[in-house]
Amino acid sequence: MKEVINSYEDLLVMLDSLLREPTNFWDDFYSNREKCIPFFANKPDENLVGYFDTILKGTIGKALELGCGPGRNAIYLAQKGYTVDAVDLSEQSIQWATERAKERNVKVNFIQNNIFDIQFEEGSYDIVYDSGCFHHIAPHRRMSYINLLQKALKPGGFFAITCFVQGGELGGTDISDWEVYRLRSLQGGLGFTEERLRTIYKDFEEIEIRKMKEVEQTSEVFGVSALWTALFRRK
Ligand SMILES: C[S@@+](CC[C@H](N)C(=O)[O-])C[C@H]1O[C@@H](n2cnc3c(N)ncnc32)[C@H](O)[C@@H]1O
Repeated sequence: MKEVINSYEDLLVMLDSLLREPTNFWDDFYSNREKCIPFFANKPDENLVGYFDTILKGTIGKALELGCGPGRNAIYLAQKGYTVDAVDLSEQSIQWATERAKERNVKVNFIQNNIFDIQFEEGSYDIVYDSGCFHHIAPHRRMSYINLLQKALKPGGFFAITCFVQGGELGGTDISDWEVYRLRSLQGGLGFTEERLRTIYKDFEEIEIRKMKEVEQTSEVFGVSALWTALFRRK
């Protein structure tokens, strides 16, 4: 590898190299499907289901899920009639998600890749969904992430996210962006405040930012109050 910085992309790659390489970590994470991990249950987020009772009621279109894991939300979107592309860098998760979609008899285009390397038709998605991926994105990639949203979404398209509440019981470190590089770690996932989310997504129209609703484990939907849920719209 040539360790030179001639471009902005070279700089991002160098900063990536200071942090844990994520693919092996996530493949290992998904290698045991019996682990007691709340989001391993094959049920969609309560907020996503809620959007289909309100703002997305009766809509169909094209959806992109970022960091889809074993596919529970991508499968739900496909069941609602959306044409879904769902990306995750873990081969293990994509394998699991593919099996789940087959079991539920729905079609999802699962893609094993880094979200920053995917190819798509610009301005083609009606909704981009991210449940728990953004808080694993390092600060130096945040601008690329926003760029990705702006490029992927149609004008007026929706972006919805769930991410760690800062200091919440599931994780959500309160270290500063600079501290990430001093520690060379995201400490298991970055935590956010409502204000911080508002600042990061300031170029989008805010529709809602709230805590996820805590639901019973037996519920048909997933909900834990240690996560924010937020819905924005591309202007
Ligand atoms: C906490 S898991 C959430 C999985 C899934 N969204 C769910 O809620 O069931 C975060 C996921 O983001 C994926 N991920 C993290 N960084 C990524 C990146 N740069 N590109 C693609 N996927 C990524 C991980 O592989 C992991 O599956």
